Amino acid sequence: MTKINSKFTVNGAERMVSTEARTSLADCLRHELKLTGTHVGCEHGVCGACTVIVDGAAVRSCLMLAAQADGSEIVTVEGLANGEDMGPLQNAFRKHHALQCGFCTPGILTTAHALLSAEPDADADRVREVLSGNICRCTGYLPIVEAILDARKAYGYEGRER
Ligand code: FES
Ligand code: FES
Repeated sequence: MTKINSKFTVNGAERMVSTEARTSLADCLRHELKLTGTHVGCEHGVCGACTVIVDGAAVRSCLMLAAQADGSEIVTVEGLANGEDMGPLQNAFRKHHALQCGFCTPGILTTAHALLSAEPDADADRVREVLSGNICRCTGYLPIVEAILDARKAYGYEGRER
C-alpha cells in the first residue's frame, strides 16, 4: 500500500509521519504519535470528541486526513498543559467539576481553547453556541460553561466575571 509522508508540528514539536492516504488525522495522532488524549466517538463529525486545533481553528480530526495536515500547526489536548502542570482551562474544569466520565473533555477543552484564544471576552451565549458541536452525555453543560467563563482571564479577558 502506498504511503504518504506528511510533516507537521504537534504541540510545538515537528513530527514526520507516513500514513495511508485514507488515515484520518485522529487515527494518526492516536496510533502513530501515541497522543491518545484525542478521543474518537462517532467518527463522522457529530460528537466533537476528536476536536484538535489546526492552524488556530478547532477541527474534527476524524474528518480530516493526516495527509491534509501537511505543513500545519496542530495543538491537541496534551498541548494545553503547562509542562507537568495543568493549563488554565484544565484547572477551571477541575474547580467547577466540569467533567464526569471525561470522554468528551479533550474535545471540549480544545474547542474552548480555540474560542478563548480568538475571543477572550466570549460571553455565556457565545460559549454555548460554540459548544453546540460538542456532545456531553454526563454533565448537563452548566459546569462546563462556568469553567470556560472562569478561564477567560487567563486568555486576557479583563471584564466582569459574568
Ligand atoms: S469522533 Fe470526530 S466528531 Fe465524533
Ligand atoms: S463528561 Fe461524560 S460525556 Fe462529557
